[in-house]
Amino acid sequence: MSDSQPIASSSASKPVLWSSRFAFIMAAVGSAVGLGNIWKFPYITGENGGGAFVLVYLACIAIIGLPLMMSEVMLGRRGRKSPIGTMEVVAAAEKGSKNWIGVGLMATLAAFIILSFYSVIAGWTMPYIISAVTGDFNDIDAERSGDLFGQLLASPGQLLLWHSIFMGLTVWVSAGGVRHGVERAVTKLMPALFVLLIILVGYASTTGHFGEALGFLFKPDFSALTAESVLIALGHAFFTLSLASGAMMAYGAYLPQKVSIARTAMVVAVMDTGVALLAGLAIFPVVFAHGLAASEGPGLIFVTLPVAFGQMPGGGFFAALFFVLLLFAAWTSSISMLESLVSYLNEKGVSRVKAAIGGGFAAWLLGITTVLSLNLWSDFTPLDSLARFEGKTLFDLYDYLTANIMMPLGALLIALFVGWKMKPEHSQAELGAWHKVWFPIVRYVTPLALLIVFAFNLR
Ligand code: PFF
Repeated sequence: MSDSQPIASSSASKPVLWSSRFAFIMAAVGSAVGLGNIWKFPYITGENGGGAFVLVYLACIAIIGLPLMMSEVMLGRRGRKSPIGTMEVVAAAEKGSKNWIGVGLMATLAAFIILSFYSVIAGWTMPYIISAVTGDFNDIDAERSGDLFGQLLASPGQLLLWHSIFMGLTVWVSAGGVRHGVERAVTKLMPALFVLLIILVGYASTTGHFGEALGFLFKPDFSALTAESVLIALGHAFFTLSLASGAMMAYGAYLPQKVSIARTAMVVAVMDTGVALLAGLAIFPVVFAHGLAASEGPGLIFVTLPVAFGQMPGGGFFAALFFVLLLFAAWTSSISMLESLVSYLNEKGVSRVKAAIGGGFAAWLLGITTVLSLNLWSDFTPLDSLARFEGKTLFDLYDYLTANIMMPLGALLIALFVGWKMKPEHSQAELGAWHKVWFPIVRYVTPLALLIVFAFNLR
């Protein structure tokens, strides 16, 4: 077997592949660009003082995120299976322990847990689109906007309805398969998303507060930066690039052999970062134009933004566009979260349709506990006896477990595998000239950075 061939290529069935490099890029960018970019990035930037935080975040993407993304896509392409199957195959090829399969298992589980609560949050975009269209935001004040959001969160029935519809949309695409489902959806939704984003940035530039937003995002004020902000930036770098959750490994498995992994991963990371920054430029000018606070927190999009849009000419229309954008972004991400599990079940002989329905249904069931955490079970904080988890609802616990434990741990193991276990000739054959830069980073820098994160986290 030649080293430049995927290990699993000798199997009888021909692997399913993306039809082009463009299709992979749209799928990977679709996975990466999501609530993380448009909802979370602007508000954590707002909370952590702006420019200095953005700089640290960019460094995390470049030094840790990008090399890890290359590693995952590379492993996926060599294994040509689901993340679980891939880890089994590549570990065997490197004469490694069977336990490496645990990396695939943990990634698949992390993606499943994230999908369960992500779907609930993504569901919020739908009632917001309706409210924007029907004029609910016209001249709304901050108090009323806060009330509307509060009412949505307080209603298990409403949350369940939107969560169900969103999960249905995800399952529908996933059930269609890689080419006819995922590829077809992402190659339409992502270009639409870019157009919407450009329109919204253009609209924001008419507010007269564009310069202020630029200054906020790009003028570093290091006094606002804390050790905690650095951890938040790193954690977000993982989340936003869909790392350590199987998505990139699963999508990498369908990447044609001739495509350059390094160059493609760079395009994905740059586009993901670009969308996050553009989302900031669509949101902050509108927020500043009305003297509202950038440091509002998670309510920035769902409470502050409606107030701002509600006072602008044509605001209802643009608010609707904004929430459509958010819906599309979340949809293409959730499809990728389901892929690890669906491809695994598929490998085990379950049809794609049954795997998508079964996996989606299980995530939907778990999602109900997130729905309830926001209202009826908001006082149910089962791990209060452990100081670290005190006061955390089930939803908070899922978020904490995936973002602070499973993703960094999975990332560390992946870096150790490709940096220390895998033969450099094998990774060299996949990465070509870029191997020289990538290898020392994943071997030393990434594991060290991740160990520091753990030491901080476990203090
Ligand atoms: N990258 C997505 C976002 O920024 O919203 C979230 C995500 C997608 C995480 C896919 C994990 C994943 F497997």
